Amino acid sequence: MPRTPPTHSINKKGQLGRARIWVGDCRGMLSEIPEVRAGKVDLVFADPPFNWSRAYDQWDDSMPEAEYVEFTEEWIRRCHDGLRAGGAMWINIPDDWAAEIVVYCKRKLGMKLINWCVWHYRFGQNTKGRFINSKVHALYFVKPGGERTWNAEPILETSDRRAIYGDPRTESKRDGMPAGLRVPMDVWYGEYWGRVQGNNKERRGYHDNQLPEVYLERVILSCSNPGNVVLDPFTGSGTTGVVAREHGRLFVGTEFSNENALRAAERIEAGMIRKGVLKGVSSAIHPNRRKTGPRTKRVTAK
Ligand SMILES: C[S@@+](CC[C@H](N)C(=O)[O-])C[C@H]1O[C@@H](n2cnc3c(N)ncnc32)[C@H](O)[C@@H]1O
Repeated sequence: MPRTPPTHSINKKGQLGRARIWVGDCRGMLSEIPEVRAGKVDLVFADPPFNWSRAYDQWDDSMPEAEYVEFTEEWIRRCHDGLRAGGAMWINIPDDWAAEIVVYCKRKLGMKLINWCVWHYRFGQNTKGRFINSKVHALYFVKPGGERTWNAEPILETSDRRAIYGDPRTESKRDGMPAGLRVPMDVWYGEYWGRVQGNNKERRGYHDNQLPEVYLERVILSCSNPGNVVLDPFTGSGTTGVVAREHGRLFVGTEFSNENALRAAERIEAGMIRKGVLKGVSSAIHPNRRKTGPRTKRVTAK
């Protein structure tokens, strides 16, 4: 079981705005956050421990299954209570628990599932007796009863139609999107989307469960506005905080480990490494067919 956590908050107030991290178990600490108490959170992003026996600085990541499910439902319920009507909740979760969480959020809390995205990464741990894990689910819920924030423009990418085929039809689109661009699909992969390991420039040595900045940038830009309150109950190395603050959101977080919280606060102060690197970029998995060789004729079977 977790040891008794410390309880205090780290307050960073700088040029880019405020970011605050409360140190302790989120189940107790969330009610200390004024914006949560007032139900004024606009966006929750949660990347909880997966109960995979990971060596976190303080948290014991190996609960009996029933206890883990109880823990999960409690932190989700507390985050949901702090969310404004229309606010969004994103949960990053592996296969093991995704189904239980979706049923709980929809059936017990009445939340609406907007997207069930998948974060696909290469270099998962090799396994011989079953398929190798190469994804985590990114579940996007909204609390009904208010206006949902959705900004497509800052996250648009180049469409496959333009990137692969150079098809002129993409230059005069009738769907209201700028020429050659589209909203990304619900499976996320590609450059900068790998797990943050090795000599990755983003890596914070102390914390080895860090999400890529591009992931949080996509979520925060599309689902919140400048000045909005963004909450992360499992701050970790501070990825949500650093992206939120860099984009002018007010960050509030909780973190069980004092050491993690201190380092996250330093990172938030230092700023992002990869701000805006994916804006307008293509995620196509085929090369441009016009440039890379003769176009092949389709052969029709007789
Ligand atoms: C998977 S990591 C989050 C990583 C984070 N998304 C990032 O990109 O750095 C989970 C974090 O939650 C913290 N944690 C675990 N249980 C917690 C709890 N009950 N309350 C608050 N923090 C907790 C762990 O110490 C760990 O830093």
